[in-house]
Amino acid sequence: MNDRSDLIGAGLVASALMFGTAAQGAPQPVRAPRGMVASSSDIASRVGVEIMQRGGNAVDAAVAVGFALAVTHPVAGNLGGGGFMLVRMSDGKTAVIDYRETAPAAATSDMYLSQSGDVVSDASTVGYRAVAVPGTVAGLALAHRLHGSMSWAELVEPARRIAADGFIVSHGLAESLRAEAVLARFAETRRIFLDHGRYRRAGDLWRQPELAATLERIKRDGPREFYEGQTARLLADDMAANGGLITMDDLRTYEPTLRVPLRGTYRGHEIITIPPPSSGGVALIEMLNMLEPSNLAEMGFNSSATWHCQVEVMRRAFADRAEFMGDPAFVTIPTAGLMSRAYAAARCEDIDSSRATPSATIRHGDPPADDGTETTHFSIVDRMGNAVANTYTLNTSYGSGVTVPGAGFLLNNEMDDFTSKPGVPNAYGLIQSSRNAIAPRRRPLSSMTPTIVLKDGKLFLVVGTPGGPTIINTVLHVLVNVIDHGMNIRQAIEAPRFHHQWLPDEIRWDPYGISADTRQALERMGHRFEKRPRFFGDAQGIMIDVATADRLGASDPRGATGAAVGF
Ligand code: DON
Repeated sequence: MNDRSDLIGAGLVASALMFGTAAQGAPQPVRAPRGMVASSSDIASRVGVEIMQRGGNAVDAAVAVGFALAVTHPVAGNLGGGGFMLVRMSDGKTAVIDYRETAPAAATSDMYLSQSGDVVSDASTVGYRAVAVPGTVAGLALAHRLHGSMSWAELVEPARRIAADGFIVSHGLAESLRAEAVLARFAETRRIFLDHGRYRRAGDLWRQPELAATLERIKRDGPREFYEGQTARLLADDMAANGGLITMDDLRTYEPTLRVPLRGTYRGHEIITIPPPSSGGVALIEMLNMLEPSNLAEMGFNSSATWHCQVEVMRRAFADRAEFMGDPAFVTIPTAGLMSRAYAAARCEDIDSSRATPSATIRHGDPPADDGTETTHFSIVDRMGNAVANTYTLNTSYGSGVTVPGAGFLLNNEMDDFTSKPGVPNAYGLIQSSRNAIAPRRRPLSSMTPTIVLKDGKLFLVVGTPGGPTIINTVLHVLVNVIDHGMNIRQAIEAPRFHHQWLPDEIRWDPYGISADTRQALERMGHRFEKRPRFFGDAQGIMIDVATADRLGASDPRGATGAAVGF
């Protein structure tokens, strides 16, 4: 090598160090060669990694993480809630386990209305009557039966042990417990979660003996214990004593459902996601179809043109969500129509590139008929390349606030995801139709959107988030950030994001997420912003490095206690 080329080489290195390229010096995801878990709790992520280190696969790890989050992340991790698990095994086989809660048999369409027909405030969100029949234990059991390789007892044990021996409360958990007024409303909840009103502090050891005993029964007697054994009796007796609707029969007859994932494509990537009764997958694919003709990369990340384009797409997809979606066992949903490219093209026809379309003038589209404030997500990839994307929840933070005495776990308030009354917004401000009305055994409409992306037919991305309706748009942002803007998974999750859900007609936005002049440009186009910005979502993602097959993990810094852990 002559002197001159040495100098050129040194110069290149020096300038790269000083000025960097788009990739150099970028915030880096957690990198590991074999397996990765990204979840809202560092303790739960480590449980998942330990299971895989002992030879378990991604589904084994998912079951163990699901139980562990019920102990360490009680705001949303649960035994008393429900959710959706998307599995893609390394041989390409996929499945959706729908373990969404169901309305009890005694539920009625007008159960949250007063005599005068108004929605009674808090009726569907707080207390015994807000609770739907929990699906989590049955859902994790179905996942285990389909794909698990370790014993059920081995997968429940880490959670039982953490509940029995205790774990150290983090600053984030202490703050979250202190902030949530619903925890003070019920004596058993106040005793367990607020330490009799003394509050737990960061650094405290927290043992949960009742929850440990429940997990011991589930571990020893199997998942049916929750639905037919002592746990079921504790739950049903407490319901009967407090005006709740859930009976032993509701618990005994609860069934998770296996569903076929939805598939779409976006700029050559294959999108695999969740079908109804979540609205998330349909809306995500509908929005991606509407975005594909636009060159977002050229329009630029966070430019007013990109914001405008995405907001217009969001408000149209959410108008369709409001009208068409519900439990597919009870209503016909034009799923294929909503996801067709022809429909997306028609739906985009009235988008004006220079003006916001007021939501008041937007109605649902006309798709062809078919023939036929906490949740938590975790993403797992194992060394074989099996992948799990799981989102589950109690609905709003700490659910209904009800803890089953003697059983140590909180119950959901998922009944609020139904339409209490068409046209009246729910806890997330969502307007919904009678297609999502309350009826016995029905599943409420969800926005949960655990999603897997393939590139050239190979596993590329596993992602999801909590956030009610913002879930769908956060997943959209992460996909666009990776696919259009070339970000790594950490950048894609950390980047500022925004949300529009048709009604109310305003944009939710991240603090520091938009420059003043971009905002002014959007306001001049007719867009309206929420008064104050607020953070939303707690995305957990894993991406595969195409060159090395390394697993790249990232846990949203908006969540206080999460971590991506690999091995
Ligand atoms: O199923 C749904 O769409 C809601 N129950 C999810 C709730 C949620 O994400 C709360 N998180 N912030």
